[in-house]
Amino acid sequence: MCVGATGAHRYPGNEGVYQCVHPNQGGTTSHASSLTVAWLFVFCSCHMEVTVTIIDQLAHIEQTALTALSEIRDAETLSEWKSTYLGKQGSIAKLSRELGTLSAEERPAAGQRFNAVRTALDSALAERESHIRTHALQDAFNNEAVDVTLPGRTPVMGRLHPSTRVLRMITDIFAEMGFQVWESPEVETDTLNFELLNIPADHPARDMWDTFYIETPPGAEKVLLRTHTSPGQIHSMRAHAPHPVRVILPGKCYRYEQVTTRHEMMFHQVEGIAVGTNITFSDLKGTLVGFAERLYGAGTKTRFRPSYFPFTEPSVELDVECFLCKGNGCRVCKQSGWLEISGAGMVHPDVLRNGGYDPAIHSGFAFGMGPERITMLRHGIDDIRWFFSGDERFLEQFV
Ligand code: DAH
Repeated sequence: MCVGATGAHRYPGNEGVYQCVHPNQGGTTSHASSLTVAWLFVFCSCHMEVTVTIIDQLAHIEQTALTALSEIRDAETLSEWKSTYLGKQGSIAKLSRELGTLSAEERPAAGQRFNAVRTALDSALAERESHIRTHALQDAFNNEAVDVTLPGRTPVMGRLHPSTRVLRMITDIFAEMGFQVWESPEVETDTLNFELLNIPADHPARDMWDTFYIETPPGAEKVLLRTHTSPGQIHSMRAHAPHPVRVILPGKCYRYEQVTTRHEMMFHQVEGIAVGTNITFSDLKGTLVGFAERLYGAGTKTRFRPSYFPFTEPSVELDVECFLCKGNGCRVCKQSGWLEISGAGMVHPDVLRNGGYDPAIHSGFAFGMGPERITMLRHGIDDIRWFFSGDERFLEQFV
């Protein structure tokens, strides 16, 4: 049969060109042998024509594909090209379905040609892909180039809170004098915060040291947020007695207080205590004067004023000469020429006993100071509320 006569190889634009005519359908001769010859000729030429047609078609596709490929500049068009020519529904795959219509002898050569074209297009594709990638990279280098001479963006650096800085300065100074740093709980019992420090329930000092209470079952001991670091005296003495103790206890304190420029309901304190044998008021003076000189500079004038605290006897306040007016009187020192920086005293015998020491053998001194107050005096800060407002304009001034 004439394969071409079926019209199976009519390709777009080639309609009818490869059609051959079967001799039995509108035959051209009546002579038997010439019919056979003619038929054979037609038969062969039909086959020849068909084979050439597929190969030509393939060559045509290859050419068109390569031309199209050479004009592609981006990955998206490249992928479209790939599916148009090499995809499952692409031109080559479609054409290859015609291979089955070829004779067994013709098929291998045509098949090889198909493979060769596929390989050629595959490698052209790979080459184009890498060309496009290189160009994209080059473009990026040119357009998005980093100017290394531009000044860098300074990262925002965190820093220590002013209270923490002063706390550290204070602990450093006392560490040099042999004081260990101790931690004591912020949540305390009424007994430790008040009773054992000579502040019974009816003591007027309770008003000044009122605080926030934690709900406890009826009849249970009262639990509260400590109003000062002084209960740490009892904790540290009990941990050391009857051996000597020399510690400072920094930390947060809380008070039920109307918040004003001078009072916060949360603030810091640094407590200090030294207990042993033969500890005298001179030791207290020497320690605190040494501290003031380290904090404010050598030669800083200090004075001790008599005062009263239920847990020390005698009690004093430590003042330093106002470093702003040098003792002449100014707004910061309220014209007095002095700044009060710490309460202190000799540990009361009852408190020593509560800590596990025998006041007949042991003696000791204690002190308590507020780092926020010290910072305010140092930097002329007129409102304690700045410390815990979280306002960066305030915080970033302390480098
Ligand atoms: N706890 C006192 C207060 O909060 C400060 C204080 C004064 C502590 C005298 C002491 C001291 O250890 O001896 O005001």
